[in-house]
Amino acid sequence: MSDQLRKRILTGDRPTGKLHLGHYIGSHRNRLKFQEQYECFFLIADLHMLTTKPDKESIEHIAEIARIIVLDHLAIGIDPTKVTFYLQSAVHEVYELQLLLSSLVTVERLQQLPTIKDMAAAAGMDQIPYNLLGYPVLQAADILMPRANLVPVGKDNESHVELARQIARRFNNAYGEVFPLPDPFVEGGTLVGTDGQAKMSKSLDNAIFLSDDAKTVQRRVMSMYTDPNRIRADIPGTVEGNPVFVYHDTFNPNKAEVEDLKERYRTGNVGDVEVKEKLAVALNNFLEPTRERRAYYEAQTGYVDELIYNGTLRAREEGKQTLSAVKKAMGLSGAWNRISRAAEKRTKKQGQ
Ligand code: TRP
Repeated sequence: MSDQLRKRILTGDRPTGKLHLGHYIGSHRNRLKFQEQYECFFLIADLHMLTTKPDKESIEHIAEIARIIVLDHLAIGIDPTKVTFYLQSAVHEVYELQLLLSSLVTVERLQQLPTIKDMAAAAGMDQIPYNLLGYPVLQAADILMPRANLVPVGKDNESHVELARQIARRFNNAYGEVFPLPDPFVEGGTLVGTDGQAKMSKSLDNAIFLSDDAKTVQRRVMSMYTDPNRIRADIPGTVEGNPVFVYHDTFNPNKAEVEDLKERYRTGNVGDVEVKEKLAVALNNFLEPTRERRAYYEAQTGYVDELIYNGTLRAREEGKQTLSAVKKAMGLSGAWNRISRAAEKRTKKQGQ
């Protein structure tokens, strides 16, 4: 299918750290399918990172983390010829678009979103900075900039896509049809942490990263939380909700082996060590192809930078087209055109 006929997807990540298995299960594996059916734009949302981490230290790490995240994508099998990766802060049209869209949303509407308060609380803020309140408006600018049709996000971000849709509709009504109305694609499935906590997360130190080597995976698996009541191998254990079995179900393609382990676990006929060793093997088998792809791309010095660079230039082109359509629809380009034309006329006259 030619790109003109393909629907567009826009999604992305804040550059806060490398990707782990929880990201993969919850969202990033979907991107492997999306790249076959849609024209994909994946942004590194560093301007969004600034809403909760505006310190210089975090800013200094943006480039490095952007490279890591893009490399994580390539490692899981994202095809660099099929998607456009770009650095949000280098696409200036997005800043302009955010401002122009901001008359289409009220402060009250933004204040009612629970996500903003949650993010402020998580960042330990007792007051909400202006850019954090505007987080969803900036996200709307991200989405509308390439005129995206579909926006894959977690459940917590669904309300932001709905806001973007509302903004698009209001813009079209007020000034003329410029934007397709974006639909959210709500991604699901969280992966339990290695410590048994509900969610895998870097800050909880309960993650297995896509870039972990085989030894690290082995070590993290051997120290995983299991059924705490099972102090000896001959005590019957609980399989349901037990992280080692959740991971077996998710990552071990050998269903017969998993069923056998579960059966023996329930009846007190297997030690944790065997269950974990088999899990480590399954996880490493799963990660091995990603390690090979990672090594392949890493061996080409500067490749990832070039990819982000070219993607960003491409995104700027999209941004320019959209912004000019926006200003034209609003009649805003007319103001500057009239003034500059008159000024040029006078300059020319004086030169005669
Ligand atoms: N808000 C997303 C997150 O939680 C990141 C993001 C920024 C995004 N802009 C976006 C996601 C546009 C989808 C579409 O990290």
